[in-house]
Amino acid sequence: MAAVLMAGKELAESIRAGVAERVAKLAGESKSPPHLIVIQVGDDPASTVYVRNKVRTTEKLGINGTLHKLPEDTAQADLIALLHSLNRDTGIVGVLVQLPLPKHINADAVINELDPAKDVDCLHPANVGRLWLGNPFVKPCTPFGVMEIFSKYGIELKGKRAVVIGRSNIVGKPLAALMLAEHATVTICHSRTADLPSVAREADILVAAIGKPEFITGDYIREGAVVIDVGVNRLPGDGGKDRLVGDVDFASASEKASAITPVPGGVGPMTIAMLMHNTLACYDYQHS
Ligand code: GUN
Repeated sequence: MAAVLMAGKELAESIRAGVAERVAKLAGESKSPPHLIVIQVGDDPASTVYVRNKVRTTEKLGINGTLHKLPEDTAQADLIALLHSLNRDTGIVGVLVQLPLPKHINADAVINELDPAKDVDCLHPANVGRLWLGNPFVKPCTPFGVMEIFSKYGIELKGKRAVVIGRSNIVGKPLAALMLAEHATVTICHSRTADLPSVAREADILVAAIGKPEFITGDYIREGAVVIDVGVNRLPGDGGKDRLVGDVDFASASEKASAITPVPGGVGPMTIAMLMHNTLACYDYQHS
């Protein structure tokens, strides 16, 4: 049986349209649009693409988006001072610090200084705590996008075995929290998990978020499992142009899976759509 292709791209479009409608309504009420600040430190090429797409999307939806691009050698104290001034600015509803930060900056120490009410990413410890308590303020963008895909494609989590490969603070851990809240039995795997293929084969729902191109082949997948590919990896393609691939080997995985997200056009577009949604959620919280 051919796997159902779960196209986050279309779902993301409808979420973005909903946000644009809300922002237009605010304009109709003569209210200023929500203002999101995106901070990039340094010139990591992948981050440059991500932050550009984030700011471009705000513009398309009528949200006010500003990129603060800081040099690679920015001092941690200066970045924190910028966050403090953004925290105090009542005209700004959301602040996103693009990760990874340069090595001389302690990302945890920086995120800790962000006002939790402006934390559109759900990375501040107070928001992470609320997430694990089952009472999230906002949900982290990529995991939230994955949950929206489950909902759109009628994938029930209750009583299912979910295996997340990858334990990052941005994807693996928070996605596990969200799936747990929906009553899945969740296992988080990582680079030191013993016999990863056999743990993965226990999954009704398998999530790959490890950043290793096409690592998860059909051998890791139980017949009929749902496969979510969070990976975005650039490999050299034809004509000198990079080709985007996920963490899942799509060809062999789609022979086993009952449903699968493609790369590109699967989880990726959902991250930015949920960021826009969260920006509005922060706006609503701050204006209630
Ligand atoms: N780097 C890669 N993905 C993300 C994300 O969703 N948020 C932030 N802040 N940094 C990232």
